[in-house]
Amino acid sequence: MRNLRLWGVVFCVVVLFGIPVFAQEKVTIRWLFETDFGGGWKVLMERFEAMYPNIDVEMQEGPAATNVREDMYATSFMAGESTYDMAYADLIWIPKFAAAGWIIPLGDRLSPYEIAQFLPGDIAGGMYQGKLYRIPSQSDAGMLYYRKDLLEQAGFEPPRTWDDLVEQAQKLQNPPELWGFVWQGNQYEGLICDYLELLWGAGGELLDAEGKVVLDKGTAAVEALQFMYDVIHTYKISPPGVTTYQEEESRHVFHNGQAVFHRNWPYVWTLAQKEDSPIRGKVGITPMVHKKGFQSAATQGGWGWTISKFSKNPEAAWEWIKFATSYESQKTLHFHNGYIPTRHALFADPDILKESPHYPDLWRVQINARTRPQHPQYAQISDILQRNIHAAITGTITPEEAIKRAAAEIRELLGQ
Ligand code: GLC
Repeated sequence: MRNLRLWGVVFCVVVLFGIPVFAQEKVTIRWLFETDFGGGWKVLMERFEAMYPNIDVEMQEGPAATNVREDMYATSFMAGESTYDMAYADLIWIPKFAAAGWIIPLGDRLSPYEIAQFLPGDIAGGMYQGKLYRIPSQSDAGMLYYRKDLLEQAGFEPPRTWDDLVEQAQKLQNPPELWGFVWQGNQYEGLICDYLELLWGAGGELLDAEGKVVLDKGTAAVEALQFMYDVIHTYKISPPGVTTYQEEESRHVFHNGQAVFHRNWPYVWTLAQKEDSPIRGKVGITPMVHKKGFQSAATQGGWGWTISKFSKNPEAAWEWIKFATSYESQKTLHFHNGYIPTRHALFADPDILKESPHYPDLWRVQINARTRPQHPQYAQISDILQRNIHAAITGTITPEEAIKRAAAEIRELLGQ
């Protein structure tokens, strides 16, 4: 009888206050990401820990390149370790992680109404075989930044085509103090995001709808790669060092006022508008340039939360995920780190609009962005492209040779 009464009390406590009160023992949940350069994550973790004194959230600040962190998570999961409770995942990792059974489905934890609050591309990027594995926290799409002040002085409209960009950059630049165009040319995933925008913007494709390699059909792939080579070596509007730049290296050049044009993700805008920014009020945004006669394309990027199958504390992880992807948390991350929200409603948030009046336009770019192939072997496909494209832009092999090799290697990988 006493036992029954005791369980009755326990039951009421759980129903009334939820699991966190019940789970008195303190738990730590861990995840790995890049440096918290804007400090937004720290603010969120402190807020969360104040609300949930039984849960410690530990963020490991790791390398900047997405593929390097992907390997770190994969190595740990492959060994069945519970080091990471959550993988904060780039959308390109999901098919691989889900197919390997390293992350658990989360779709049943949200109602269809809750799912509809998020941008469709970010939800699609978290799906594998009809199940949702990732709750989106941060959206991304590639775009072109330009120095509004310099273009206006020269009477230029923002460039639309590759030719416009080259012409304006050559007229306005004064290297090495002011370069024409900076982007991500290092041998890593970012190079592929930049390359695909040029490829799609010249009418080309990597794989067709059935997953067949079509990269080397037509001339677009070689033209796009030739353009990447030319901006460095022929038109000389990009510094030779661009072949070592990731996002932050290229952003620093632009942010310090040393470049006219800059391809990057939307976070650059918020950082450019900060009070101590040398280019505050001098920046415009336009869709990425395309080949004449074709259309602009943006690569869809973005980050979100998954729960590891090996986590010993999946429910604590879920509490954190709900908190970290909430309206208020995404707003905090936007103001500190410049992240792009994944919830439709934040694109019309009055505080965000005051600081970022371009958000309605950005929303349009976001929902039209294109995903990279959602394939469990995407990491290997990308690796093949990275090697060959980088060899071409550094002049080791020709663009023709690079595309021929890349297409053949990807066909072999996929057994085509
Ligand atoms: C950004 C994007 C991500 C992409 C990466 C490449 O972080 O959100 O999707 O893979 O850049 O560097």
